[in-house]
Amino acid sequence: MARELTEVGVVGLGTMGAGIAEVLARAGLSVTAVEISGDALARGRAHVEHSTGRAVARGKLEPAERDAILGRIRFSTALEDLAQAELVVEAVPERMELKTDLFAQLDKICPPDTILATNTSSLSVTELSVATGRPSKVIGMHFFNPAPVMKLVEVVRTVVTEPSVIEDVEALAARLGKVDVTIGDKAGFIANALLFGYLNHAVAMYENRYASREDLDAAMRLGCGLPMGPLALMDLIGIDTAYEILDTMYKQSRDRLHAPSPVIKQMVTAGLLGRKSGRGFYTYAAPGSAEVV
Ligand code: 3HC
Repeated sequence: MARELTEVGVVGLGTMGAGIAEVLARAGLSVTAVEISGDALARGRAHVEHSTGRAVARGKLEPAERDAILGRIRFSTALEDLAQAELVVEAVPERMELKTDLFAQLDKICPPDTILATNTSSLSVTELSVATGRPSKVIGMHFFNPAPVMKLVEVVRTVVTEPSVIEDVEALAARLGKVDVTIGDKAGFIANALLFGYLNHAVAMYENRYASREDLDAAMRLGCGLPMGPLALMDLIGIDTAYEILDTMYKQSRDRLHAPSPVIKQMVTAGLLGRKSGRGFYTYAAPGSAEVV
């Protein structure tokens, strides 16, 4: 039978990590949320406060519930505070050396049966697992942006992940109100492997001036029934994150479909990171805002 996890941790409180911490706390789990610096921690906390505050403003959450959710998250800058966690989800930037270094540290801090989960979008979970002395307890738990809204969690198993660990994570996903799909350790897993070729193609069409950003987005929303057009979605995902995902998939498969369109790298270099920086393919009222100006 699956373990009922109660004490969990999240490392990295960017867009995804903050959303994941919120989802876990909403489901009643006790969450330790860790960031590298006081400033990054304050931004992560503000993200959760904003997201839950918005739910209160929309009448979807009682103020007392919001306070209870925030009360279940302990914000910290010390990885050592994860010493009691039964499961830790890492959501630090998509750089292998950053993640392997973090997993090696967590391996020393957490008890031997703690599950180490990664929210990586495209890096090899197997490679991450061997940075620890417990590869069988390492698994992918890939959420989608915005994490509090999107229903899917991809559970990524390696050739050595213990079946009981998969069961525990699947049971947790169900408690979070998510639907899980399970997949082997392949770059991009299911959703990103299919999604990012399409996004990259849309960017190339825009870069080559075949169509305006508004027309590209309207075509896919109104013609194909998608909730967002591809360029608006690139802005939501983050242009830097999208670049890293495409680049990793391209390096693994050498499939030109995933060779990042040149403008993506240029936008990253220029700091046009999408909604989070206030400007990407569109310009927003403020960093983090969804309002296009
Ligand atoms: N955080 C928390 N909640 C949010 C949110 C956010 N950033 N954005 C929207 N929401 C909530 C709203 O509060 C609202 O909740 P309610 O129904 O309980 O009141 C609900 O979502 C709908 O929001 P809105 O009415 O403001 O806006 P929309 O109806 O246009 O929905 C959307 C917004 C959910 C973002 C929708 O446009 C959508 O589903 N877009 C596609 C998103 C997508 O494809 N995500 C996957 C990206 S790929 C990925 O994440 C993989 C990774 O590896 C990169």
